[in-house]
Amino acid sequence: MGLNVIMLGAPGAGKGTQADRFARRRGLPRISTGDILRQGIKDQLPVALVAKAKMDRGELVDDETMVTIVRERLARPDTDAGFVLDGFPRTVSQARSLDAIIEERGNGPLVVVDIVVQEEDLVRRLAGRRICSKCGTNAEPADGSGTTCQRCGGTLVQRADDSEQVVIERLKVYHRATEPLVDYYRERPTFRTVNGAQPPDRVAQELDATIGDAAGQDVHAPWGAQGSARL
Ligand code: AP5
Repeated sequence: MGLNVIMLGAPGAGKGTQADRFARRRGLPRISTGDILRQGIKDQLPVALVAKAKMDRGELVDDETMVTIVRERLARPDTDAGFVLDGFPRTVSQARSLDAIIEERGNGPLVVVDIVVQEEDLVRRLAGRRICSKCGTNAEPADGSGTTCQRCGGTLVQRADDSEQVVIERLKVYHRATEPLVDYYRERPTFRTVNGAQPPDRVAQELDATIGDAAGQDVHAPWGAQGSARL
C-alpha cells in the first residue's frame, strides 16, 4: 500500500514548505500543481501559458487541465510507494476526479491533512515571501532578509501572484472554491487537521505524527464512516 497524502490549506498556509519536508523525509515525490504550472510557463508550454493569465489574476486554472496534469503525473512509477500532493485538489470536482484515480490505482487511500492558519498570518507570510528566480524554492522564513537562494545561489524575488491585490483575490477564491473541500473530506477516517501557525519545525513534527496515525487507521473502513474522524 502506498502512502498517498494531500495537503490542504489556504494560500500561505505552508503546504509547499511542509509537503517538501515530508516528501524528502519519506522518500516520496512531492507533486505541486503550482510548481508544475510555473515550470510549464518557464518552458513556454502552450497549456501553461493559457493558465498564466488566470494565475496572474489569482484565479483557478480549469479543472479539466488540472486533472489531466495530475492523472498523467500519478501514472509515473515513482508514485508507486505513494506521493505528497500540494495544491491539488482545489475544487470538489477535482476531488471527485482524484477519488476516481485513487480507486483505479488501488494502492491505498488518501491521507488528507488540512493545515490551518489565521487569515492575517497568511497575508503577512505571502507579502514577505521570496522565491528563487532560478530554482523556484521558497527562501526559509529565517532567510527572509537575504537576497540569495541558499540552495542554488539564484536571486530571490517576489512571486508574481504575491502582490497585495492578487493575494486578496486568491484568498477569496480559496474560501469560495477550495474551503468546501474540508467538508468533502471531513468524515473520512484518514482526515486530519494540523495547526500551521507554529514554527515550521513544530508543524513538521505534528504532521509526521498525525500522518503516521492516520495511515495506521483501519483504512478499509468505508469513507464517510462516523466516529473515527478527529482533529
Ligand atoms: P500554488 O502554487 O499552489 O499556490 P497557493 O495554493 O496559493 O499556495 P502558496 O504556494 O502561496 O502557499 P503554501 O501554502 O504552499 O505556503 P508556502 O509553504 O509557500 O498555486 C498558484 C496558482 O496556480 C493558483 O492561484 C492557481 O491559479 C494555480 N493552480 C495551482 N494548482 C491548481 C489547481 N489544482 N487547480 C486550479 N488552479 C491551480 O509558505 C508561504 C510563506 O510562508 C513562505 O514564505 C514560507 O517560508 C512561509 N512559511 C511557511 N510555513 C511557515 C510557518 N510555519 N511559520 C512562518 N512562516 C512560514
